[in-house]
Amino acid sequence: MRSPVIAASGTYGFGREYGKYIPLSELGGISVKGLTLTPRQGNPPPRIAETPSGILNSVGLQNPGVHAFIRDELPFLKAHPGLAVFANAAGSTVEEYGEMAAILSETDVDGIEANVSCPNVKCGGAAFGTDPDVLARVVRCMRRQCKKPLIVKLSPNVTAIALMARIAEAEGADGVSLINTLMGMAVDIRTKKPILGNNAGGLSGPAVKPIALKMVFDVSRAVSIPVIGMGGIVTGEDAIAFFLCGASAVMVGTGNFTDPFCCKKVTDEIADFMDSNGYTQVSDMVGKLELN
Ligand SMILES: Cc1cc2nc3c(=O)[nH]c(=O)nc-3n(C[C@H](O)[C@H](O)[C@H](O)COP(=O)(O)O)c2cc1C
Repeated sequence: MRSPVIAASGTYGFGREYGKYIPLSELGGISVKGLTLTPRQGNPPPRIAETPSGILNSVGLQNPGVHAFIRDELPFLKAHPGLAVFANAAGSTVEEYGEMAAILSETDVDGIEANVSCPNVKCGGAAFGTDPDVLARVVRCMRRQCKKPLIVKLSPNVTAIALMARIAEAEGADGVSLINTLMGMAVDIRTKKPILGNNAGGLSGPAVKPIALKMVFDVSRAVSIPVIGMGGIVTGEDAIAFFLCGASAVMVGTGNFTDPFCCKKVTDEIADFMDSNGYTQVSDMVGKLELN
């Protein structure tokens, strides 16, 4: 990739709206809105609640379905030379994850990012990525049918994320990305109701950055596959901290909502930092954190 900065899934749609303002080819890549086998309406509104230094969202994977993506959106994205297109894929059963991998493998996406933070409908709704055995089954099933680079996007809503990363690696993942959102709630004390229509949602933005950095640090020491870091990145300096903790690329999500040029700004600021500190390539910084 020509840049280590990727637009994070669910915050950049399929690139069309941002593409009116920013040459998408200047991004390292885009992870598209989470795709499912069939179209989804998503959750009832309100879907976003602002929090100190972040947001809670409960969009609920609203998307046109994988087939409409391949037909209507992928050709637009692939018309941007140099832009790596990652299909963020989710399923409601283990088998559906495998089917998504098979379908997307026959397209010209550059990689598949498995969103394992979705509820497992057959097992009481717990997220696939929060149970080690279920995560192993999902990655195994996808790997068998996946001919593309497979990135497993880890859920932070676990006790030991490094263990989950090791499982993903052992089952054949080519890389891991983290973190997805942290489960949270916002309450309207006057109505005595949760603010989000879905009651609970996922926290993202600068509020989660310290948690994300620690998780990236732990995961990058536990696996030897590449790590993509995200969680609260809004400046080049934020991204550099993720590189030092072991990420070899970063994703920018919520930052795009407050500044639609955030990905470009982060990219330019990384380049400035590298120039003024004598780094010639990102890999010179990866994992170079010096512990006290
Ligand atoms: C509104 C919204 C929608 C999201 N949708 C998805 C999604 O469809 N699939 C996914 O894997 N992550 C999704 N995410 C999570 C982000 O990709 C990212 O992991 C998370 O927000 C942390 O990064 P950030 O703090 O830079 O936003 C979503 C996040 C937000 C804020």
